[in-house]
Amino acid sequence: MTVEELDMRAREILRGNDRGGYTVPTAGLYPYQWNWDSAFAAWGFAQFDVDRAWVELETLFSGQWPNGMVPHILFHKDDPGYFPGPGVWGTDGKGPISSSGISQPPVAASFTRAILKTDRAAGEARLRALYPKMVDWHRWFMSWRSDDGVIFVSHPWEAGRDNCADWDNAMANIDPVGVGEYTRRDTSHVDPEMRPTKDDYDRYIWLVQRGKRLGWDDAAMAQDAPFRVADPTMTFILLRANRDLAAMGRALGEDVSEIEGWIATLEAGVPRLKNPNFQMFDAIDLNTGKRSRVTSNASFLCWYAGIEDDWMRRDLDEAFTVCRYPVPSHDATHPGFNAKRYWRGPTWAIMNALIGIGLAEMGHGEVAERLRRVTGELIAEHGFAEYFNPMTGDPAGGGTFTWTAAVWLAWASPSVGRG
Ligand code: SER
Repeated sequence: MTVEELDMRAREILRGNDRGGYTVPTAGLYPYQWNWDSAFAAWGFAQFDVDRAWVELETLFSGQWPNGMVPHILFHKDDPGYFPGPGVWGTDGKGPISSSGISQPPVAASFTRAILKTDRAAGEARLRALYPKMVDWHRWFMSWRSDDGVIFVSHPWEAGRDNCADWDNAMANIDPVGVGEYTRRDTSHVDPEMRPTKDDYDRYIWLVQRGKRLGWDDAAMAQDAPFRVADPTMTFILLRANRDLAAMGRALGEDVSEIEGWIATLEAGVPRLKNPNFQMFDAIDLNTGKRSRVTSNASFLCWYAGIEDDWMRRDLDEAFTVCRYPVPSHDATHPGFNAKRYWRGPTWAIMNALIGIGLAEMGHGEVAERLRRVTGELIAEHGFAEYFNPMTGDPAGGGTFTWTAAVWLAWASPSVGRG
């Protein structure tokens, strides 16, 4: 396909996954509105229909809970093809729309700022309405997910990187007793080899059952929480998002001192995520202090957060040597690497986009461009898949995927920036 045809295909995918005000990640496998998928979708829509981009974000924030949390899934219309659905989550009455009870990486503020650049005229009014909601959401993270400036997750799904090695220590300490029988739906949509295992799912569901039992009350959930893992994804993304939120707040004439305080707190927390023995950014099980000791693609989000790191820069060069299509979600030289299984090896275009944006901003233009080019080739040659084998480029997971199409349109397509 030519670049023009690929651009057109990507726009068709976004339109095709549009369910009226929100976009599903892909039909079948993920039939609802997912939080960070939607923010990427908005970035993609902004390249050809900026009004639709704003609507995507507005619909996402229409599901915000009174405590500020923006759920990771909004169940706009029940769909029995997905498990666990609204009945399993049991969040009734917690928010204005049926939803899950956890959040997801807060990329929305950063994409809002990117979208504003394409829509300076009409964008200010839309931003004015969204801005306080984004502040409330970030405040919820700082109140309930910060451990002295590192952001932790309460469930692997909260980080969006469901089965990555970062959670292994904490997952091993959960005994999913009483989880009961359930039927997974994901493995009827895609090859089970590309998905998390049953052991993983037992623990995912056990954690959801705990949240439901505690009424999804933040304070109750924080008591003796069985899963508290300090996460590079969340910490770097929230730090970046706070910088973007503060910039937008200043432009609106708002007092941003609270946000500046969050930025200082997170900047002070980041050094804890650096593994003192292995020098990469990894995760910490806050209940035991154990580190994950594996480089993931989230380790390379440091530049996206405005943090320079020579060691990660060398690791990135190594990833280019080992993989035809970096950046793998799990160190490809490590015995735990699995080229097919979701977040234990595959390359994700969304993570490459965030890593590439950070690299370019921090003065690593050449490698940023190289990453953009190789991601563009990956998508052009292997399609708009959910994720990809980093060695062969083989597509994996769901097809006709919203965020891969969005990343193509906004970042990876050779037509980007041609004006
Ligand atoms: N990623 C999870 C799933 O696969 C939920 O967020 O269903």
